[in-house]
Amino acid sequence: MSVAARSPAVRSVSLSRPWTARMGVPRVRMAVQSNLVSIAPMLTKLQRDCATPLSVLRHVADAMADDMRAGLAVDGGSDLKMILSYVDRLPTGNEKGLFYALDLGGTNFRVLRVQLGGKDERVIATEFDQVSIPQDLMFGTTEDLFNFIASGLAKFAQNEGGKFHLAQGRMREIGFTFSFPVKQTSIDAGILIKWTKGFAVSGTAGKDVVACLNEAMERQGLNMRVSALVNDTVGTLAGARYWDYDVMVAVILGTGTNACYMERVDVIPKLQGLKSTSGRTIVNTEWGAFSNGLPLTEYDREMDAESINPGEQIFEKTISGMYLGEIVRRVLVKMDEAGALFGECVPEKLSTPFVLGTPHISTMQQDNSKDLQAVGSILYDVAGVNSDLSARRIVVEVCDTVAKRGGRLAGAGIVGILQKMEEDSKGTISGKRTVVAMDGGLYEHYPQYRRYLQDAVTELLGSELSKNVVIEHSKDGSGIGAALLAATNSKYEH
Ligand code: BGC
Repeated sequence: MSVAARSPAVRSVSLSRPWTARMGVPRVRMAVQSNLVSIAPMLTKLQRDCATPLSVLRHVADAMADDMRAGLAVDGGSDLKMILSYVDRLPTGNEKGLFYALDLGGTNFRVLRVQLGGKDERVIATEFDQVSIPQDLMFGTTEDLFNFIASGLAKFAQNEGGKFHLAQGRMREIGFTFSFPVKQTSIDAGILIKWTKGFAVSGTAGKDVVACLNEAMERQGLNMRVSALVNDTVGTLAGARYWDYDVMVAVILGTGTNACYMERVDVIPKLQGLKSTSGRTIVNTEWGAFSNGLPLTEYDREMDAESINPGEQIFEKTISGMYLGEIVRRVLVKMDEAGALFGECVPEKLSTPFVLGTPHISTMQQDNSKDLQAVGSILYDVAGVNSDLSARRIVVEVCDTVAKRGGRLAGAGIVGILQKMEEDSKGTISGKRTVVAMDGGLYEHYPQYRRYLQDAVTELLGSELSKNVVIEHSKDGSGIGAALLAATNSKYEH
């Protein structure tokens, strides 16, 4: 997420610059002032449209809880898919041996191995590798994408050694974190419903992604077995709960967003008699598809209409890392068109969709310098615009407005889940400590966003109850979590 703020190649047009008599009528000053006259109402409107007062937060939390219930009743019952994960046994700490994890969910994919030592030694060693996914593979064929993944895995597996030992006669087992909506049919199989987060790989939707991986591994001559297919939220929950038994919910706030939680099987009507030995199972809400009562703006609607999945993933498009920067960019373009925020005509760079990333808007909000130098540099380097101090201040306000709405709505979503759990099992949060394991670059690298999220949780729950709810950053927990679930679901005894 870090964006280097280079030294400013910025033409500064400061409003407070002293004017000499010889310069005559301060044209720049007049132009900027009149610009502000047309831009200020746009900013006010944006802030009004993005507002998340307590009443809006409450509505979102209630609607989230209602949609969860409707999605648990029957498939297609609400926007929330409420996918059954088939994870009803969580790691106990007794797991032993060497396990792999493969994590595909965003612009990178990761491979990881872990040597587990049972109750006493726990995690003896881990090693991982990360490869970024070339853009063309995100729009290519299923075979090409899975070939790329399998070859990365094969290379990584070749270098096994040191503290990592596979017990004799065993096959290497993998926990496969696949962070897209998948209809699980068992712990080790699931059909892709649709791609999200900008992926548009042809021919995968409707297919079992484990079968796709197995075929690619075969083509590579790689002899490994997927023993658990999990969403990244599920991996995060399993990984965090290995260390802390109070973890009940996991949330991802990164490129995309999602949440899962521990549910009682007897309150899942659509389970239709399927048994779970523990009486509980993890449900993957796929809350990115939530849409009920969100405060949306013209910028959100236009971004959605032009996206590769219009009408879908509306909560994700409002709160997650892939989109916040793009929403800000769209606001700035409109402000520039209407009020020449940066100059006469909108530069090409600024007109390029997704050129401004969420890491950029986060970095701009961290700029405490008097003249907002880092803001100026980013605007110049990334968007190709010159800015004066008043324009930079407006940009920061826009970033804050969009991040505030996102963080507060994410907080309301979390409270919605806790509310649903409390309604069915009194005492879930009112009587004890409950941990929400959180992962994702947006949460990790955007302090203001994090604070807004926490504020919303506290406002909704009240200061007493919110003390029971601990939001804990579980960095990269999903990889280890998936490997642990591969161990729990191993075909060999441990
Ligand atoms: C996917 C989820 C995933 C989330 C976070 C969303 O776009 O639909 O399955 O958990 O991103 O990675």
